[in-house]
Amino acid sequence: MQSAFDTLVRDTNATLVRIAADFSPAVFASSLAAEDMVLTDLILRAALPIQIFTLETGRLHAETLGMLDRIKETYGYTVTPFKPETAAVDSYVAQHGLNAFYDSVEMRKECCRIRKVEPLNRALAGNKAWVTGQRRAQSTTRNELAVQEDDAAHNMSKFNPLADWSEEDVWHYIRSHGVPYNPLHDKGFPSIGCEPCTRAIEPGEDVRAGRWWWENPDSKECGLHVVDGKLIRIKPA
Ligand code: ADX
Ligand code: SF4
Repeated sequence: MQSAFDTLVRDTNATLVRIAADFSPAVFASSLAAEDMVLTDLILRAALPIQIFTLETGRLHAETLGMLDRIKETYGYTVTPFKPETAAVDSYVAQHGLNAFYDSVEMRKECCRIRKVEPLNRALAGNKAWVTGQRRAQSTTRNELAVQEDDAAHNMSKFNPLADWSEEDVWHYIRSHGVPYNPLHDKGFPSIGCEPCTRAIEPGEDVRAGRWWWENPDSKECGLHVVDGKLIRIKPA
């Protein structure tokens, strides 16, 4: 008899196979954190034609960048990095300073726009669907997340195949399949973004407490999953 976990993995595999078959060309946005390593393993083991990219913001931890080599060594696969426009980064830094994102939510969102959102738009252009590693249990902003959504802003479908997964499911998959993972996860970082905007958490703290910790929990989304200031939550008809 299949366990609930086996059923979860089987259903997630089926979602990925369906994306590859019916939504080609499709791409997967990987932050190189634990959830995204589960999806990387599922996609690459099955040799699914879903291209994997990462938004290389220029402010990632060395440990996160090291995952690009670990993926290459383990799977023989090269993740495509998308970088921000140099002129936009230079102008922001010249006008506001290197770490102006601590000054206000607006300055923080502008940095995320330049370093993440604009490169994301380039990475998604020309595709029919994109895949993310978001989970419902990660945050109050994600508790209505669906496996399949319409992303009207990018005019394509968006899939969150791990929407139903718990943190335990993610780690059970990683350990039982020997999936490489970011060593920061063993140092108190359940959620990892850019280095200056991520800190380790204490036992008992919320998993995203270490992300933009100086802001209100309701503003803690970087714009990758937001349209016109709202989270994208349109389920297909
Ligand atoms: S977010 O607020 O930074 O978006 P989180 O780190 O929880 O939150 O990431 C959620 C999902 O967004 C990831 O599973 C991944 O699909 C995508 N994502 C986040 N950061 C990146 C990145 N640097 N490159 C590519 N995808 C990313
Ligand atoms: Fe800039 Fe921080 Fe956003 Fe990274 S997470 S793009 S450093 S504001």
